[in-house]
Amino acid sequence: MLHRPRRLRRTPALRELVREHRTPVDALVMPLFVVERESEAGAISSMPGILRHTLPQCVEEAKRLFSVGINAVLLFGIPAHKDAVASRNAADDGIVQRAIAGIKEAIPEMLTIADLCNCEYTDHGHCGLLDERGEVRNDESVALLATVARSYARAGVDIVAPSDMMDGRVAAIRRALDGDGFTQTAIMAYSAKYASAFYGPFREAAGSTPQFGDRRGYQMDPPNAREAMREIALDIDEGADIVMVKPALPYLDIVRSARDRFDAPIAVYNVSGEYAMMEAAFERGWLERERTVDELMASFTRAGADIIISYFAAEYARRHGRGR
Ligand code: PBG
Repeated sequence: MLHRPRRLRRTPALRELVREHRTPVDALVMPLFVVERESEAGAISSMPGILRHTLPQCVEEAKRLFSVGINAVLLFGIPAHKDAVASRNAADDGIVQRAIAGIKEAIPEMLTIADLCNCEYTDHGHCGLLDERGEVRNDESVALLATVARSYARAGVDIVAPSDMMDGRVAAIRRALDGDGFTQTAIMAYSAKYASAFYGPFREAAGSTPQFGDRRGYQMDPPNAREAMREIALDIDEGADIVMVKPALPYLDIVRSARDRFDAPIAVYNVSGEYAMMEAAFERGWLERERTVDELMASFTRAGADIIISYFAAEYARRHGRGR
């Protein structure tokens, strides 16, 4: 027989030699939750192994992550006070601003990425400012995000990551950053962000469940694929440095299409619900943990993602990262 594909599968070394895709630890981003009020720190029931950190714990965790090879963290703040206009989001002494500065001081080489959205900061839980009918006002919310982005930039953030899905926000944020001299602060846009059921556990973690209605008026409708290409093209046009597809597993077709069409770096977000469902299966012994996580990472890389944001980043790095 001329062709015997099994020849190259015979030993681990042969399989390594012909492996088409690898997921290096330096492609990973670990999300970190940081609380302003210490009493809110601790476990998240639907995300076993993930914690809400106090500020000092968050800096310590960043150090541990860096020591196993993780170069970037994505910060989510949980403020002590929420109100209708997300006042604490743009405060220079806000929790994310302090976390950025604290991490940068402890580990200057660690990249800090700040999720840029209002839903953790509003008492109604929506991602922007509301009109009298309870609809999210687009342009006013964008102006607020631009103000918040400047505050994160002043704190020393490397990358801001708008996750709100308002129209025109990337251009407005770029203009605001440049206007204040922050020409080197990068934008990673949540470009194709779907209105997904898989964000459930995150909303417990961040206390950001909408108090009424849902996010379907601004996040994308799950069955749409061509529209994702339009959203990504718009964000690149508006100045996004990195574009993102979110969630990951149910949307790997979108990652592949984006990879084939665009040259910009593409990030994929393996979200809280994807983490929770696997953790639930690991707990029951229904799935084998390490093999599952490795296969998961391979699927993102194979689909074409350059950057992987995942709650599994830390454990993957502990197994595959080089000690520093
Ligand atoms: C903020 C934001 C959300 C996530 C990232 N940024 C929640 C949402 O849009 O409801 C989800 C992350 C996850 O589920 O892990 N808008």
